[in-house]
Amino acid sequence: MTTPALEISGLAKSFGALRAVADVSFTVAPSSVTALIGPNGAGKTTLFNLITNLDSAAAGEVRFLGRPLTGMKPDAIAALGLIRTFQTARVFPGMTARENVLAGAHLAMRSGGWQQMLWLGAARREERMLARRADDLIDLVGLSAFRQAPATDLPMGAQKLIEVVRALMARPKMLLLDEPAAGLNDRETAELAALLRGIRDIGITIMVIEHNMSLVMSLADEVVVLDAGSVIARGPPGTVRADRRVIEAYVGADA
Ligand SMILES: Nc1ncnc2c1ncn2[C@@H]1O[C@H](COP(=O)(O)OP(=O)(O)O)[C@@H](O)[C@H]1O
Ligand SMILES: [Mg+2]
Repeated sequence: MTTPALEISGLAKSFGALRAVADVSFTVAPSSVTALIGPNGAGKTTLFNLITNLDSAAAGEVRFLGRPLTGMKPDAIAALGLIRTFQTARVFPGMTARENVLAGAHLAMRSGGWQQMLWLGAARREERMLARRADDLIDLVGLSAFRQAPATDLPMGAQKLIEVVRALMARPKMLLLDEPAAGLNDRETAELAALLRGIRDIGITIMVIEHNMSLVMSLADEVVVLDAGSVIARGPPGTVRADRRVIEAYVGADA
């Protein structure tokens, strides 16, 4: 049996009396796409915060590629190759698109600080390699024309792609993406879906929080449905879509 990319067991977190995440357990297979869905306030972002230790869990454990993450700092978790994007995060202002992408490499960069002073040559070579890689990735997602533009001037869809590309610069083994398609039009969403499929196909595991059901259905290998902090359904997209509790959770949220 292969080691799961991610094993979540018994995770729990409350804010005062509110049980934001209540005893959540599931595993994510390597090189797969898992969509995490559920009504607003279901606990999806909190779950990402618990996985990356941005919030401390009251109970439970997370293993990444078999290794427990308990007690690790968020940047140490990122250095293991578990990289996330944020629901509200956007591109860094005052930087070009290319500089934004390069900023992602700092999470994975080996030489820095005093090392950079002592081994300037190696650091410069690494910098050149990173710049080449940033340009290649920008080309790959069709944003070459925007490379030197202030990132905040880019259309929303392009900014979202830059965020994903920035995450890729850290050479992730797994990506946690919090609503990457929010605010995108249909064409931009299709471009993002193609990029995510390409990322999955080169072996990077993805867990994505997403509201766009057609994107979820076309992209996900596995769907996990959270409602009021608990997993209420889990399985292939076709099965989950037909689940009575899932339909009720969504209808209930809309009413
Ligand atoms: N830092 C916090 N302090 C208090 N309540 C919070 C905090 N973060 C999230 N919550 C609450 O926890 C619940 C889950 O929030 P969240 O994980 O952001 O949901 P989702 O991402 O599924 O929309 C919500 O009711 C939210 O208001
Ligand atoms: Mg959220």
